[in-house]
Amino acid sequence: MRVVVTRRIDSDTINMLKEHADVTTWDSDLPPSREELIRLLGDADGALTLLTDRIDAELLDATPGLRAVSNLAVGYDNIDVEACTKRLVAACTTPDVLTRTTAEFTVALMFAVARQIVPAAIAAREGEWLTWYPFRFLGRDLEGATLGVVGLGRIGATVATLMQGFGMRVIYADERSESTEFESATVTDLLRRADVVTLHVPLTPETRLMIDDEALASMKPDALLINTARGGVIDTDALVRALERGRLGGVGLDVTDPEPLPVDHPLYGYERVTIVPHIASATSVTRHRMSSLAAQNLIAVLTGGDPPHCLNPEVLANA
Ligand code: GLV
Repeated sequence: MRVVVTRRIDSDTINMLKEHADVTTWDSDLPPSREELIRLLGDADGALTLLTDRIDAELLDATPGLRAVSNLAVGYDNIDVEACTKRLVAACTTPDVLTRTTAEFTVALMFAVARQIVPAAIAAREGEWLTWYPFRFLGRDLEGATLGVVGLGRIGATVATLMQGFGMRVIYADERSESTEFESATVTDLLRRADVVTLHVPLTPETRLMIDDEALASMKPDALLINTARGGVIDTDALVRALERGRLGGVGLDVTDPEPLPVDHPLYGYERVTIVPHIASATSVTRHRMSSLAAQNLIAVLTGGDPPHCLNPEVLANA
């Protein structure tokens, strides 16, 4: 049995896989090119993939031996699950283990933006701390402000609970949720009312570019916008236009479109925009849990077991 790991990851996970399969690792921190990925997976039975690896019909047709794709991520917009199902390839993900870590990071980013922590830290480092300034780096209090959570799944709900603990009034928009713990609203209503909007929807054809010119124009002029979901949920050009017009009090982006965001991108030009490189689930414990879970999923599919998190379990009987 042959398994491919598409990036350099922790040795514990590689060793776990080695107990069941011959393991080939793309031994780099940078992703393989499309051609390299297809070649790499050419005669593999299973692949432990990252969210930057596009797994689509073309790739699957070129890798007919593949029986399982196990994403080291909860998001799976990089995987065409329908194409996998059609070819009886199991597609797996790593939910739950990253929920709290990602939610805590969202809270951290929200406070960082509200309190201008990043620009203030840069100013101190650059020698601009000459005295105690009574009216510089003035932030915003979140207590009593309204938080709009778009998408009340595992992560969104955890952010809502944490921020309610900080005294925010929470409203949410999510047609799939019946939660009565927080006030529900339509997306339109939420955008109009929220002082802080935080995005927690998966990237799907329905959510792609959801935050467009119109959505941004409907938000309070000094609202804060936080995105730890997927960059494609926001229309990046529309966001730049809104910032250029002086709208939004602050923006915190853990994810961008494109990703990585090129260093000369106009978004970096706004002091009130804080951008970090997709690190919301990046704690040592959580990333190890994620890679271990990705390996468990893969091994279970390939050995006829029951993978903890399979998106298309209907293929398992045939795997
Ligand atoms: C990270 O973005 C993930 O989907 O796990």
